[in-house]
Amino acid sequence: MPSFENQVVIITGCSSGIGLATTNLFLDRGAKVFGIDIQPFNTTTLSADHQSKFLFHQVDLTIAKATDDAVAACQIKFGKKIDVLVNCAGVTDGWSSADTLKESEWDRVIGINLTVPVKLMSAVLPAMKEAKSGAIVNVCSKAGVSGAAAGIAYTASKHGLVGATKNVAWRFRQDNIRCNAVLPGGVNTNIASSVNMECFDPEGFNAFFPTIQMHVGKSQDGQPEPIIGTDDVAHGIAYLASSDARMVSGALLPIDSAWSTL
Ligand SMILES: NC(=O)c1ccc[n+]([C@@H]2O[C@H](COP(=O)([O-])OP(=O)(O)OC[C@H]3O[C@@H](n4cnc5c(N)ncnc54)[C@H](O)[C@@H]3O)[C@@H](O)[C@H]2O)c1
Repeated sequence: MPSFENQVVIITGCSSGIGLATTNLFLDRGAKVFGIDIQPFNTTTLSADHQSKFLFHQVDLTIAKATDDAVAACQIKFGKKIDVLVNCAGVTDGWSSADTLKESEWDRVIGINLTVPVKLMSAVLPAMKEAKSGAIVNVCSKAGVSGAAAGIAYTASKHGLVGATKNVAWRFRQDNIRCNAVLPGGVNTNIASSVNMECFDPEGFNAFFPTIQMHVGKSQDGQPEPIIGTDDVAHGIAYLASSDARMVSGALLPIDSAWSTL
């Protein structure tokens, strides 16, 4: 199991779901983690050893200059070198389609899911280029390669992030900077709470939900239940960030128990 001892890792969306599981995994493997989230982080859940290696930065990353300021704050705490960036913070849409989409919904979802990760990559690249090393992992989605799994804003944001991942991978390969993405299937997290119900489109939901039903399991009372755990995704992220994947860049790793085969 690769160690991240003494490596500095920035993780967005660290307070919940996949980002929280990823934070715990990197801390377990010896990393110094700079966690960013708009919501508070409950540091009392961390052991004393983990607390000493963790700094939490609470901010809405969509605010102007928030990404640059966050990276600068990380460097003040842990030094100039940044070994890993995990772009995990994200929101989902209300299943709207091109005919029902509101401009505010487009701006909100594209802003956090696509613009913020690109800005954070821009912000860490100078330090990674100087060090001639770095690994970036972007949390995309099945909706990053399928048009049948989410509303138009979420789908476009994750397709955009897939493109940005490949672009950064190729452009900076000679700087020894790798950039990869995970494409999780349905995971039981707090993501549903990010739906703006004023933008909920029932027809869109009914059009896309059958694709999701082909992948999720069923609870005892017959309700759809995600089968992918947050730890499953965290392990994929850690693999792509680790030296085990030193020749892997520009890759899209589905973590969805074969949903990607559809
Ligand atoms: N849960 C799933 O089924 C699933 C599937 C595929 C991909 N994903 C992706 O995984 C990532 C993590 O989502 P999750 O499922 O763990 O959801 P989650 O809601 O549990 O976690 C997302 C985190 O992002 C933070 N965040 C949202 N907007 C922010 C902002 N403006 N500034 C800073 N932080 C912000 C939230 O506060 C939250 O803590 C997202 O990018 C999501 O699109 C999730």
